[in-house]
Amino acid sequence: MTNTPTARFEQLLSSRALIGWGAPVTTARPVASPLYEFGGGYPDPASFPYDGMVEATARMIKAEGAQALTYGEPQGYRGLRELVCHKYRLFENLDVAPENIFVANGSGHALSLAFSAFVDPGDPIICEAPTFSGSLNNIRRHGPEILDVPVDEEGMVTSVVRERLEGLRREGHRCKLIYTIVNFQNPAGPDLSLRRRRELVDLAEEYDTLILEDDAYGELRFDGEPKPPVYALDRRGRVIRAGTLSKILGAGVRLGWLCAPRAMLPAFQGFNFGGGVNPFMSRVATWYLREHMEEHVKLLIDVYRAKRDAMLRGLWELLQGTDVEISKPEGGFFIWIRLPARTDPARLEALAVAARAQYTPGPAFFPNGGGERFIRLAFSYEPPEKCYEGSRLIARAILDARR
Ligand SMILES: Cc1ncc(COP(=O)(O)O)c(C=O)c1O
Repeated sequence: MTNTPTARFEQLLSSRALIGWGAPVTTARPVASPLYEFGGGYPDPASFPYDGMVEATARMIKAEGAQALTYGEPQGYRGLRELVCHKYRLFENLDVAPENIFVANGSGHALSLAFSAFVDPGDPIICEAPTFSGSLNNIRRHGPEILDVPVDEEGMVTSVVRERLEGLRREGHRCKLIYTIVNFQNPAGPDLSLRRRRELVDLAEEYDTLILEDDAYGELRFDGEPKPPVYALDRRGRVIRAGTLSKILGAGVRLGWLCAPRAMLPAFQGFNFGGGVNPFMSRVATWYLREHMEEHVKLLIDVYRAKRDAMLRGLWELLQGTDVEISKPEGGFFIWIRLPARTDPARLEALAVAARAQYTPGPAFFPNGGGERFIRLAFSYEPPEKCYEGSRLIARAILDARR
């Protein structure tokens, strides 16, 4: 079947499907069976709660079987929405009601629902440069004009957000939304500072737009203090927050959500499928996490901190004394590297492929070009020994890729 020719369907595609059709999808370079998988943000497979999930499934089926195996509520399983509220209270002191939560098929899907609800082709939106490559692929399929804003050690640079908003206003346009990754920004690593969180909320008010706050990693904090969510600082219903269970339970459960003002939820629901998102898995995840969330997150923090430290050690042992810049994120999955000035990115790539070490090249994260001098390494997937070994191989490749 695999070699069957495909009918010429392109002329039949809908105008929606044609937006961004054929645009290159940016991902990590494909290294055939990598020995060191530092490309995607894959959670640690050794920490998945295998037994706990088996046990939670059995308990859930006995108690809720028929409900779990039929269509669910359009907004998502209430138990999971309650659990998300509990999680927000526990980790971020954020008080929201289950009525504010809309369950989606991972936060990628949740973000896509928000883009579908607010973004038409040609609409201006603002996002970080660099930003998460998966979100860029997602956003591009909605055809907006992407205005980018740099990121520094305090996160998205709000003075540039103001410049962009002002420029749009001068031209008679209104920004549809500002997309920002607030905790352990993917890929660059910083938290958005409290000062800038406040400024962003003020800017959204002043320029009459929305903020889409993406938080995929907030609970996985190794150092430092959590900052209040932008959602909590907003008083005017201008913030939509996306979250996920991918990083604290398992990406395979495909469960994420939007937290938003209640009046907005029908706009997301209009783009969702009937029957609610995965009522069965929502229940399994809820039954497991109701009892184990805190202890499991604690375990994950130790697991990922050890990996981050192993990778940083491997990199610095070889790159000390060069003009490299290496992030030290206080949590999350990624290390962001600004390569030494004389590095040849193509040569680095060839050397890393030869070492079977996968990373993601910087250009994947920039909405409007650039980024050749950067690479992102994910320390989340490999065990600490391989984070150390593999990062030394990458560091060696960086040294050997000097022009
Ligand atoms: C910042 C950010 N947002 C969203 C996602 C999407 O994750 P998922 O769709 O698995 O919830 C990711 C995944 O890596 C991410 O890093």
